[in-house]
Amino acid sequence: MPAITGTAPGKIILLGEHAVVYHQPAIAVPVNQVSTKTYIQADPAAPDRRVMIDAPNIQLKEKLQNLPADHPLQMIASAVLHSLDVDHIPAAKIKITSTVPLAAGLGSSASTTVSFARALSTFLGRILTDAEINRIAFEIEKIHHGHPSGIDNTVITYDRSVYFIKGEPFEWIHVSEPITLVIADTGISSSTALVVNDVRSNWQKDPTRYDLLFSKIGACVSKARQAIECGDLSTLGETMVENHSLLQKLDVSCPELDHLVEIAMQAGALGAKLSGGGRGGNMVALAASEESARQISDCLISKRAARTIITTIPVSR
Ligand code: PMV
Repeated sequence: MPAITGTAPGKIILLGEHAVVYHQPAIAVPVNQVSTKTYIQADPAAPDRRVMIDAPNIQLKEKLQNLPADHPLQMIASAVLHSLDVDHIPAAKIKITSTVPLAAGLGSSASTTVSFARALSTFLGRILTDAEINRIAFEIEKIHHGHPSGIDNTVITYDRSVYFIKGEPFEWIHVSEPITLVIADTGISSSTALVVNDVRSNWQKDPTRYDLLFSKIGACVSKARQAIECGDLSTLGETMVENHSLLQKLDVSCPELDHLVEIAMQAGALGAKLSGGGRGGNMVALAASEESARQISDCLISKRAARTIITTIPVSR
C-alpha cells in the first residue's frame, strides 16, 4: 500500500495581528513556498502494533502510544480518531517534515496540525472536511497559543486569502491584481503566546488607549481589503505602513523588525510591516513587481535578514 500524504502551507498575516484577538478584522494569506508534509505508511509487521512517529524538525522519534496525552501530536491524533469515531490507529510509520520555520510567524503549528490531521484521516479511511480539519486545528492552536484568534488555522486549512473576524464567519478576499510580497526573517525566534499575553495585560491596565489602537488597526484592515479588491497596491502599501506604526505603539515591534521595515521601504517597497506576534519572527513588504521584490529581497539579505521568501498572491474572484 502506497504512503498516504497530507500537505499544508505556511501563512503570513498581511494586516491586523493582535487587534484580531479583540474582534477587529485581519487579513492573512497562504505562503506556499513553505509547507508541512505528513507521510503515513501502514506497517502491519511492526512489533506491538506500534505507530512510530518521526518529526525531525522537533527532534521527535517516538511511539505515538508513548507521547503524553497533552502532547500536541497526541491531541491531534485523538481529535481525528474522535471525529471519525474510530478507536485506534493501525500499526504504521508516520513522518512529519516541514520547511515552515518554527516560532517565526509563518504558522508552523497550524501547518503541522492540518497536514497531520489530513493524512491521518485519509489513512483511517475517511477524508475529514476542511471545516472539521479547521475545527481540530483551532483546538490545537489553543494549546500552543493560549487565546488564538483562529486566523492561522483558517488560512492554512483553506489555503486561501481570508478576511477574518474572531467568532464570525470568515470571508474570502477577492484579489484583483497579483500581490507580490517579500517576507524577511529577523532570525529572532519569538513566542506568540508571550507577546499576546503582554498585550492583554497592557490592555487590562489601560483599556481606553488599547481599544483605540485596536480600532485604528481595524480601520487599516478595512481600507486594505478595499484596496486589494480594487487592485490599488499603493493604498494597500500605505495601510501596511500605518499598521506597522500602530503595532509599534502596541509595543510588539523590536529594533530588528523596525530596521528591516525601513530597509524594505528604502529599497522601494510600497509598504512594509512586522507580521504575526512580533518582537522577532518575520516582517512583510509589498513590492510593485517581481523585479522590485528581488531587489528588496537582496537589500534585506545584505542588511542582516536571516532569510527571505518571495511569494505572489494570484488573482482570485
Ligand atoms: O505569530 P503568528 O503568525 O502565529 O500570529 C499571531 C497573530 C496574533 O494576532 C498575534 C495572535 C492570533 O491568535 O491571532
